[in-house]
Order: sequence, then C-alpha cells, then structure tokens
Amino acid sequence: MSTEADAVSGAELDAELAELLDVETFEPPAGFREQALLKDPAVYEQAASDPQAWWVAQAEELDWFQKWNRVLDDDDPPFYKWFVGGSLNVSYNCLDRHVIAGLGDRVALHWRGEDGQERDIAYAELLAEVERFASALKDLGVQKGDVVGIYLPMIPEVVVAMLACARIGAPHNVVFGGFSAEAVRERMEFSQAKVLITVDGAARKGKTAPVKDRVDEAMGDLASLEKIVVVKSKGIPCQMREGRDVYYEDILAAADPACPAEPLDAEHPLYILYTSGSTAKPKGILHTTGGYLTGVSATHRYVFDLKAESDVYWCAADVGWVTGHSYIVYGPLCNGATSVMWEGAPDYPNKGIWWEIVERYGVTILYCAPTAIRACIKWGAEWPGKHDLQSLRLLGSVGEPINPKAWLWYHKVIGGERCPIVDTWWQTETGAIMITPLPGITATKPGSATQPFPGVFAEVLDESTGEPVEEGQGLLVLTHPWPSMLRTLYKEEERFIETYFKRFGRDIYLVGDAARRDRDGYIWVIGRIDDVVNVSGHRLSTAEVESAIVAHAEVAEAAVIGQHDEDTGQAIVAFVTLQGDIQGDDGTVEGIRETVSGRIGKFARPKRIIWTGDLPKTRSGKIMRRLLRDIAEGRALGDVTTLRDPAVMQQLEDQVKELRAEEE
Ligand code: PRX
Repeated sequence: MSTEADAVSGAELDAELAELLDVETFEPPAGFREQALLKDPAVYEQAASDPQAWWVAQAEELDWFQKWNRVLDDDDPPFYKWFVGGSLNVSYNCLDRHVIAGLGDRVALHWRGEDGQERDIAYAELLAEVERFASALKDLGVQKGDVVGIYLPMIPEVVVAMLACARIGAPHNVVFGGFSAEAVRERMEFSQAKVLITVDGAARKGKTAPVKDRVDEAMGDLASLEKIVVVKSKGIPCQMREGRDVYYEDILAAADPACPAEPLDAEHPLYILYTSGSTAKPKGILHTTGGYLTGVSATHRYVFDLKAESDVYWCAADVGWVTGHSYIVYGPLCNGATSVMWEGAPDYPNKGIWWEIVERYGVTILYCAPTAIRACIKWGAEWPGKHDLQSLRLLGSVGEPINPKAWLWYHKVIGGERCPIVDTWWQTETGAIMITPLPGITATKPGSATQPFPGVFAEVLDESTGEPVEEGQGLLVLTHPWPSMLRTLYKEEERFIETYFKRFGRDIYLVGDAARRDRDGYIWVIGRIDDVVNVSGHRLSTAEVESAIVAHAEVAEAAVIGQHDEDTGQAIVAFVTLQGDIQGDDGTVEGIRETVSGRIGKFARPKRIIWTGDLPKTRSGKIMRRLLRDIAEGRALGDVTTLRDPAVMQQLEDQVKELRAEEE
C-alpha cells in the first residue's frame, strides 16, 4: 500500500514542509465542513450569550434518573455545583443505555495486545463484565463513597474496573502504570483507598515486568488498604496474602451477574486523579458525576466530530492520565463510539505499529501527543508510508504545545493534507477540552489551540495589571465556571483556593500556563508558569523530582529545572551537590536515576545531572532557579547581585560548557 508519504521523503519532504510554513491558516476542507456536526460559527455566539442554556442542552444528551432543579449553584465560589438535585450514573450512560437502544453488538473496544492478540469487546459484553465486577467489589465490602485504587496497564480490565467503580459510586484513584510502586503507595495513602486493583505483570516491549510483587514491597502494611485484587494478565505466579489478596477472575466467577447502576447525585465524586503541582506533594484532583460527563461527552462529540455509527476512534494516550480518563473511557463510551485500545509502545514490535493499527481497524480519528509525532518524524516517513492511512479523517493533538513543524508533518504525512487537526488545550483540572478548534468551523494555525470551546471563557491577563490582553502575552485564565471543572483538591480545600483562586479572586480560575493572544484573538499556549515541567506530555513537579533525588544517600542538595528538549518538549536537568567530599561519577549518576525511578517512575529520571559545590541562592537561602534555567539554556545570566556567593555561577557555567562539549 502506498500513500503520499511514500512519494515524499527526506529533503523533498523538508522542502514541502518549509513551503507550508508560509501558509498562515488552514481552512477546514470543504468536504469535511459539509458533513460536520457543527458547521455554523453562530454556535459560539449562542453559547456565549447563554452558557447555562448551552450546557443544559449538552446535559440533556445524557440519561438522568432525575433531572436537576438548578443548573449552576454559584453561591459560594470557587465551590461550584452543577445540575443540582439531578441524579444519574456514569456507567449506565456509558453502557446500559446503548444496550437498551439496541446497540449491544456494537464494538466498544478493539483491543490489541503487544503480542498481536486481539479482542473485540461489544457494548453488551462490556456491560456484563462491568456488572459482575461491580457485584464483586460490593462482595469485597466496597461501599458507595469508598475510594478504590487502580494500578493497571492498558488492558480491557482497566476500563471494566473504572466503570464498575462508577456503577456503585466508589470514586476511583487510577495511578499511571509508569509510576513506581512507591508512588502508588503514596497515592493510596493520601486517598485512604480501601481496595487496590492491580495485575500480575505488564508487557514491556517483548518482556514481562512483574507488577504485583513490586506493589507488595511498597505497600507493606498500609492500614487503610483492606484488599488487593490481582488481574491474571500475563500468567506470572504471585505471592497472595491470605485474607487480603484475591484474583480478579475468581471473584468475578463468584459474583452476581446483575448489578443495577446506582442512582448518584450529580455532584457525587466520580474520581480522584493525582497530578503534579508546585510542591512535592501531588494534588488529588476531584471530579464529580453530572458536570464531568456533560463536559467530556460534549467535547468528545464536537471536537472530534464523532459519528458513532461509522467512526473508529483511537486516543493513543495511557488510561492512567486524564486524557485516558476523559477520552479513552468516559467521553467515547458515553457517546457509543467504537475505539481502539493498544497495549504497547509506539515503537514495538516496530516503529510502524501505530500505522499498522490504523490500517487494520480503519481508524478514522486519531488523538495523540506531540511527543509521539516528533518521535515519528525522527523515525522517518517511510514507516507510515508502508500503510494505507486513507481511513483517517481527523487528527488531534494534546498534552503540550505542538511546534509548527510537527503540526505540518502530522498534517501532510499522516493526514494526507485532507484531515483537520484539532490542537486541544486542557488539563487534569479542567476535566475536558477547553481551548480547541471546531474542525468544521475553525481555520487553524499550526501551533495554536485557537479558541475556547463554546460555553468556555478564556482570557489572557496582563501579569502586572491583571487586565485582559488584547494582543500579546500574559497569564491564561478561565473566567466562568464550567461543568467538568475540578471541585476541589481531595482533602486539601485551602490548597485548592490558594492554587487556583487566589491570584485573581474566587471567580477566576488561574490555569498556571502563560499564553499569547494574537491579533485575530487566537490563543497560543506557551507553557507553565509554576514549577511544573512537561516531559513527553507527562506532568511533573520540580520539587517532586528534587525530593526523590535527595533521598539518595550521597546527595546533600538538589535543584531541578525543565530544559527545552527537541524530542520530549522539556527534559529534566538536575543540579546536584553531594555530601562532604564525595566526587560524583557515572555510578553516582546511575544511582540517582535509579532512586528517582523507584520513588516516582522511570519517566521522571533526569536527563542531565550537573555536579555543583553549591547552588545559587539568595542571601535568605532561596534557590534561584531562574539563573539555573539561564545557564541550562545557554542564555546570558540575569541579575546575580542578590546572590549569596556569585562565584557559584561561574563554576556552574564552566560545568555546563564541559558537559555540552562531552555530549557533542
Ligand atoms: O501546560 C499545559 C499543557 O499540559 C498542562 C496540563 O497537563 P495535564 O494536567 O497533565 O493534562 C494533559 C492533558 C490534557 C497544561 O497546563 N498542555 C496540555 N495541552 C496542551 C498543553 N500545552 C499546549 N497546548 C496544548 N494543546
């Protein structure tokens, strides 16, 4: 099979991309616009003139056991409530109602294992397994309101587990499979989880990594954790603790096959998802039921222009991040979509696996992160060129700013210049996509997330005056509440207010990103303003990594910054002072990386470690990260006069130069 990508390669492709760089905007292709669910730009004005009516129309697409009596309770900002008095169930909306409508045979998930194994799971089958597992959770003593931890790889059981929790009103706390067992323990402890659902082992590029055994080592005797459920995924024998550990398959077989969905208040907690903030302690983002489902289903439908009867949708994220929660599980299933779920990495068994999957299942909508696109660019257009990608009609990007070159490559090589690209900006906190093109309406500009979704209000505020910026750079804020917004930080109400609603008051949500508005009012998200770094779309706090590094026995002090990186967007650079006279060598570097792996996860390992006798500090002892960033980026140093010991900077500059020379 051949596509346009075959014909263009190397220098020729570069030249064509360079030409495209001169094109400022890309109108929706005419054929696409005609067929689009939303094609009239008046939708923006309509939603802006009466946002509550717009969101009500979206909420009415769901099945409610009982309708709300008030759309928005904004009496006590920032503690907003949506669809007050309403009752519904998320798993009912994602499963039962489709089966009742006669769509039980429709494939919900085309699952593909790393070893090539395939499972097509229809809506009726998924419902049956979810009901059984929901009954099994009840048998284990899980009650409405109890927190259930989930630490699973990309296997169908992770979807079953999440929906089973939603069915009985037990908020889940999913931990991304790339986090270490230590990180899982911390999250279980913070959320006081009663049960943890995990797996015997996980596929890792042709090998199997044990998971349950590592969980055991970390979990020790965490008092709140009463049960551990183990999915037999890879057939690895596990140590099972009597009275605490049970196999998923065993409890499923013994469970009542019927478990009707529990009617839940619209504001009942659906899940907690821990994400990085400015301090070492992760924040437990709390999402609730009615508003969240309204937001994710509406955005999934309109941003991806979903035609559930014919589309094959693939969000190539991991279910352990918010993208997976909202756009692998809740949005698509609520909309009755057919999705693809891939267990493995993008480069195993070969670098063309994604494109093989697109061809195999006839994927029409692909949603992924710029990091993945940049990796594909590096691997070469010949990999997608080996496959027929004609089924694709829409492409999405999420997680970090997409550089124009990657956008154009995606547009040309993957999209064959016929697929609109939706660059979607949002966060764990926002629950759903907030700034994005509407593919049948918006003219896109490579690198800009364009406009707020209808019913969402975003502004760029001047950093010093707090006034809206018409054209220029400032702080991104959301000025009206929206249904899928976080309701609080789990057990940390003060921190919730402090982090998001202090700077500009209780009714303006501070995003934490800097952004630019251009003369057409388009928004260009630049990056974080706090100490959060974004490595391959994975959100990490510098403080979190620092505290992992100082856990290494030989380390006295560490400061971590995010440095611009061609491949991963940002990379972690650590400036480290060792204890006493210890001299750092390759072994110490490896040791530090191992410590970070164990405490957080492999993806948090510093790319570069720079030894330093001291860190640049103010006279009051505060580390001046700004200077470290200047050094790492090779920029002229800013003001150093407030430093306790300005000589430190010279030593550091020399070190960095030396390291650069070595790397080259
Ligand atoms: O800095 C923004 C960046 O990712 C942050 C949110 O990270 P997280 O909560 O992990 O959610 C990621 C998936 C939604 C944002 O504050 N970000 C996300 N999407 C974009 C982006 N930056 C630029 N453009 C985007 N499309």
